[in-house]
Amino acid sequence: MDQHIAEAIGRPDLIRLDDRLICLRFETMKVVSALAAVRHLLDTGVVRRGDTLLDSSSGIYAYALALACHRHGMRCHIVGSTTVDHTLRTQLAVLGATLEQMEPCSDLKLDQKRRVERVHEILAEHPEYHWMRQYHDDIHYLGYRAVTDLIRDATGGDELTVVGGVGSGASTGALARYLREDSPGVELVGVQPFGSVTFGAEHVADPEIIIAGIGSSIPFDNVGHAAYDTLHWISFDAALAGSVDLLRRHAVFAGLSTGAGYLAARWERSRSPHRTVLFIAADTGHRYVDTVYARHREAVAVDALGPHTVTSQAELALPWSRMRWNRSPAHSTGPIRP
Ligand SMILES: Cc1ncc(COP(=O)(O)O)c(C=O)c1O
Repeated sequence: MDQHIAEAIGRPDLIRLDDRLICLRFETMKVVSALAAVRHLLDTGVVRRGDTLLDSSSGIYAYALALACHRHGMRCHIVGSTTVDHTLRTQLAVLGATLEQMEPCSDLKLDQKRRVERVHEILAEHPEYHWMRQYHDDIHYLGYRAVTDLIRDATGGDELTVVGGVGSGASTGALARYLREDSPGVELVGVQPFGSVTFGAEHVADPEIIIAGIGSSIPFDNVGHAAYDTLHWISFDAALAGSVDLLRRHAVFAGLSTGAGYLAARWERSRSPHRTVLFIAADTGHRYVDTVYARHREAVAVDALGPHTVTSQAELALPWSRMRWNRSPAHSTGPIRP
């Protein structure tokens, strides 16, 4: 029996959608990561019970850290993005986490930059706070080892391709790192929104909004570029089509980054007849009811969609591009020209 709700929320389900397509479905993915990170900080004496943990978040990490703090008797202070919604604000308040939310701002890049600046101001006022640095500290990898064990038991073997959105890079990076300890043939496919610097696509703007939780306007140390075999850049509209199809065809109600991952996973599955493809569903669809699911009639049929195959970022084009990355340890700033 679980000793705290965070343990149940952090444990994913493995759902077979067909003979070679598997969904790794979380209620809130980062709970598994935050729980293990906080436990590690306590075990190694970096923090003590009652200390305050601080970080910036656009959503699911805030909830994850608040739950981990509740579990371990810590205080939690979040600098929240403008995208933190009413439901999350209310939960954080009742859980005892304090939230500073940025002023409404339609530019999510500016929002991210302002949050980082605010974290530095808070640390100057409160040097005793511990900054979790979810984007940079690889203690956020640790919790995914238990998830890897589940995947290995259920799928076995080398011929597995893992597909997931890349935000901090911890979930995809950790799954590949731990799975490859036994199965070096595991392939990793990263999914990005256009406009993200992480793999050099900041020069291509998506006219719709960027996909919450994935991509970035600043480089993150937790992204291990050399882990990725292939990258997909997917527009908001294509991700919307993926999300709607995933619900319609397989009854999985998940977020927009999952819809993008599902599209990429279907494509990889169709190209590799001997491989099983597993994609990550990081959160549920509830936050996306108005922005995505209510627009289901606009969704393009997924079978009509396919990526432009490109060999450099200079060729990237909406609504969907795919590029072999070949585990290149490329620097994460600036588009890499041919
Ligand atoms: C909805 C969603 N999907 C995917 C991700 C990517 O996860 P990671 O930060 O482990 O790369 C995030 C991270 O915030 C997220 O919120």
